[in-house]
Amino acid sequence: MAQTTAEMPAPHSQDQPAAPFEAIRIVTVIGSGTMGNGICHVFAQNGFQVHLMDINQLALDKALATIGKNMDRQIAKNALTEDAKNAAMGRIATFTDTAEAVKDADLVVEAATENIDLKIKIFQQLDKLCPEKTILATNTSSISITRIGSYTNRPGKVIGMHFFNPVPVMKLVEIINGYATEEEVTDTVRDLSLFLGKEPAVVSDYPGFISNRILMPMINEAITALQEGVAGVEEIDTVMKLGMAHPMGPLQLADFIGLDTCYNIMHVLHMGFGATKYAPATLLANMVQAGYLGVKSGEGFYKYTPGNKELTVSSRFKNNRR
Ligand code: CAA
Repeated sequence: MAQTTAEMPAPHSQDQPAAPFEAIRIVTVIGSGTMGNGICHVFAQNGFQVHLMDINQLALDKALATIGKNMDRQIAKNALTEDAKNAAMGRIATFTDTAEAVKDADLVVEAATENIDLKIKIFQQLDKLCPEKTILATNTSSISITRIGSYTNRPGKVIGMHFFNPVPVMKLVEIINGYATEEEVTDTVRDLSLFLGKEPAVVSDYPGFISNRILMPMINEAITALQEGVAGVEEIDTVMKLGMAHPMGPLQLADFIGLDTCYNIMHVLHMGFGATKYAPATLLANMVQAGYLGVKSGEGFYKYTPGNKELTVSSRFKNNRR
């Protein structure tokens, strides 16, 4: 039975052991990349046993190191104690075998690569391996929840639980109801998000949901303006940062999200709505094709050098080579 918000225990303070969340105790996170390790971090910090699963042991080791480092940032800001960190790290177990990772999971949050065929394969496997009661959530940023659910025998228990990067910092969880998602499942995931100290917003399953239906066309328009020579990288980002109080300009944000992800989401919008206004900018397509993916590849609209926090515009845009 899902707990209601009114009955729900308050999220625990940093020093106290977590109060249990009745419906969900063991959470399996599939995929240990940027989003997966952030989701794992937040669940473990809030008292859940987390099974972090990845096919690659090296990726799991790297994820644990990243979570430890990000918790150290919180300790430095007095937002977490050393004891709370150790307890949270102790609640994380890593797995390379899916069956082992999910056999007693109450909730699975899938955060694998944003690829429809891969997600369908994972959900078919999860449906076979998880107990009947297990809720299957996906952190997809644009793929249809209804479509993913339709490949399982439990579409009512399939839901979107979309976190934002960096997960420990960003307050939003966009909850996406597939066409068949049961109301009780939505209530549980909404209450759970509140318990994690996040602000849930429940939306319906249309291309890009709400977040990326609005964010990505803005980013795509910024890239189109750059392509047309209306303004340079710094100018575009300065306008949006200082004029609209965005923490990052759209081009820096595109680099942060990953230009391949931006391209893929625009493609989903373009195909899903069949409207040319969603066509990915040619410059975006070229950069992705050439492997200029932003922070993760070391260069996008800006150039990233490890250990250097200063923002440097990529020389390609300084020299006006588009
Ligand atoms: N874990 C824990 N804490 C972290 C962290 C992490 N991974 N990353 C940053 N922080 C903390 C820092 O310690 C710092 O804490 P205090 O406020 O207590 O000092 C705070 O977050 C801010 O960090 P910084 O001082 O390093 O840098 P900043 O002020 O420039 O903020 C930022 C960084 C939070 C990323 C900010 O630039 C920002 O909000 N950017 C926009 C992020 C955004 O839009 N994300 C959504 C992307 S879209 C997406 O994820 C989904 C999709 O579908 C595409």
